[in-house]
Amino acid sequence: MDLQLAGGIAAVTGAASGIGRATAHYLAGEGVAVGLLDRDLPAAESVAAEINDAGGSAVAIQVDVSDEGSVERAMAQVAYALGGLDYLVLCAGISTLFGKAVDEIDASQWDREFGVNVRGQWLPVKYALPALRASSREPAISIVASDSALFAAPLNAAYEATKAAVLMLTKALAVDLRPDGIRVNCVCPSVVDTPQSRGALGIPEGGYAGIGYPVHSPEDIARYLTLLISPVTRTINAHPLVADFGYSAQSNFPA
Ligand SMILES: NC(=O)c1ccc[n+]([C@@H]2O[C@H](COP(=O)([O-])OP(=O)(O)OC[C@H]3O[C@@H](n4cnc5c(N)ncnc54)[C@H](O)[C@@H]3O)[C@@H](O)[C@H]2O)c1
Repeated sequence: MDLQLAGGIAAVTGAASGIGRATAHYLAGEGVAVGLLDRDLPAAESVAAEINDAGGSAVAIQVDVSDEGSVERAMAQVAYALGGLDYLVLCAGISTLFGKAVDEIDASQWDREFGVNVRGQWLPVKYALPALRASSREPAISIVASDSALFAAPLNAAYEATKAAVLMLTKALAVDLRPDGIRVNCVCPSVVDTPQSRGALGIPEGGYAGIGYPVHSPEDIARYLTLLISPVTRTINAHPLVADFGYSAQSNFPA
């Protein structure tokens, strides 16, 4: 299927690692020029080098998605460097409080999780809007939320609350930006094999083999994020795409 993205320009946050890195590669493979935005500039530069060496077009830009001035500068830089912006894919996020009871979390830790995971999804949209509105294509935004937006596991309250906020932010943005012709959707994956999940769950690299529950590859989620910005999904808007191998459909009826 032709995703009709070739020749477009995308900014991807969190592009130095995991889902963001896989998405940047996937978009580049579809002929999209990509701005790789991450707080880890050396790692983003090495992803950009991989893409450029393979014949794609990528530029790495440092950003802290929770910092307004940093996001404003980075969005202006990416649009200037690549000649505009048609798509935004938001993958930057953290999970630093898994395993902590609600009475073990400091207010500053709670605020940091919300700063990156929630403010860090809104600010890139705010500062990408002028370029997205000027796009001559069909501009669209896709965001990584999580199945944690919908289902609670023990000792993960802060992260789950941030992801529920991202899900609602997706819907609110989709409603607000519909007059501009900008679609906004999110993906809600269960566990994905990335440094973030391995760190939170204490799993060594390669350690998911034989774990006893299904795990996505970053490339799985990269495909879903890409599909949701593609014009082939042009009638899908404000949608939380749950990717959890069907686990949440199963009742706990003892049969
Ligand atoms: N891995 C999973 O199981 C899983 C499941 C559901 C949702 N998610 C979500 O997917 C997204 C990507 O996570 P991942 O698993 O690929 O993690 P990852 O740690 O591999 O990648 C996250 C990237 O975001 C960057 N980042 C973090 N804070 C930043 C900041 N303030 N400014 C700019 N960049 C920043 C990091 O440097 C890193 O490159 C996150 O929002 C995460 O919550 C992950």
